[in-house]
Amino acid sequence: MKKAIYLIIALLIVVQFIPAYLPEVSYDNPKDMLTNNPNITDDVKMILKNSCYNCHSNETNYPWYARVIPISFLVSHDIKDGREELNFSHWENYKKIEKAGILDDISGSVSNGEMPKKIYTLIHRNASLSDAEKKIIVNWADEFAESLFE
Ligand code: HEC
Repeated sequence: MKKAIYLIIALLIVVQFIPAYLPEVSYDNPKDMLTNNPNITDDVKMILKNSCYNCHSNETNYPWYARVIPISFLVSHDIKDGREELNFSHWENYKKIEKAGILDDISGSVSNGEMPKKIYTLIHRNASLSDAEKKIIVNWADEFAESLFE
């Protein structure tokens, strides 16, 4: 039993030499949604930055343990998939109809509690949304979607 534990620990140490390939971080995002839409209110901005931007923008802030294998596999997978579905840093590159679809998904996934992901809020407690915060995001997303076609 002891041997098995030592072996696992040794293996975990050895695999740390494999590079962790986390998606790249960039703070220079001229197509970012918040930068290009000054009408978005501070409360919405704060919630998106605090609960969504780590997975849905190029501005990912990796904690140290995100670089530890095998945690890095999970993190890198979530960030890659998250950015593919919705990347706020590329917002102005989306077509109007894509923006409307994404806003509709935001409204839906926030109101049914699917987003932000549970595994994330379990670790980042302050990223979980109160009912009031959910309402702020849902109302904003619905209004923003409508305003695109005015
Ligand atoms: C831990 C990373 C993570 C966080 C934090 C996160 N997401 Fe996601 N999101 C994902 C991933 C990964 C997907 C891809 C589909 C899936 O795995 O559910 C996704 C999919 C989506 C989608 C498209 C598909 C769907 O489920 O409707 C929307 C919209 C979305 N997220 C919005 C948000 C919003 C808004 C927030 C913040 C309130 C947020 N997400 C927070 C990782 C995250």
